[in-house]
Amino acid sequence: MKKIKEIILGVTGSISAYKACDLLRFLKKSGFNIRVVMTEEATNFIKPLTFQALSGNEVYINMFTENTSWNPKHIALAKAADIIVIAPATANFIAKLANGICDDLLSCICVATRAKIVLCPAMNENMYKHKAVQDNVRKIKELGVIIVGPVKGRLASGDIGIGHMVEVEDIVRVTKRSIK
Ligand SMILES: Cc1cc2nc3c(=O)[nH]c(=O)nc-3n(C[C@H](O)[C@H](O)[C@H](O)COP(=O)(O)O)c2cc1C
Repeated sequence: MKKIKEIILGVTGSISAYKACDLLRFLKKSGFNIRVVMTEEATNFIKPLTFQALSGNEVYINMFTENTSWNPKHIALAKAADIIVIAPATANFIAKLANGICDDLLSCICVATRAKIVLCPAMNENMYKHKAVQDNVRKIKELGVIIVGPVKGRLASGDIGIGHMVEVEDIVRVTKRSIK
């Protein structure tokens, strides 16, 4: 029997976090099993319950919650993933990934995994154009992360500029193409 592919959907603390709901729905419709991992900050924008209901799976946030068996969550999830899709990805999360920082569940999974990572930045235009962010984007590209977007569009501030997360359909297309 064909194994169902496992996707970890990483959601970070951006105003675009709500778009991850549609992304999850599209990916699930395409036949993937989705496990959502949120940063603590992402929970300010959207409730874990929403992702739990849409995915039909537990939503993971903390590394240090009790396990019923000895199986560290970050390693188990990192191993199980066929691909990791981070959408939206904040400037902060990109900086952590660029520097191998592992201070929460999602960043640990990204460093522990051998799966491909597709990452979709979303932020204010000035943030995106900042040299530190540009350097970090370049660094993670060199590490093999597949970066999708951002594009020009209406930002949270109301301005039109670069920093808008790519459309969900585009993320689904890249994910399907990249999954092993
Ligand atoms: C209303 C609001 C919207 C935000 N949107 C973004 C965003 O789109 N992109 C971004 O990089 N940071 C954004 N931030 C800042 C992040 O939430 C902040 O850097 C946070 O520490 C990111 O944490 P995380 O990377 O662990 O999820 C926003 C903050 C607020 C209050």
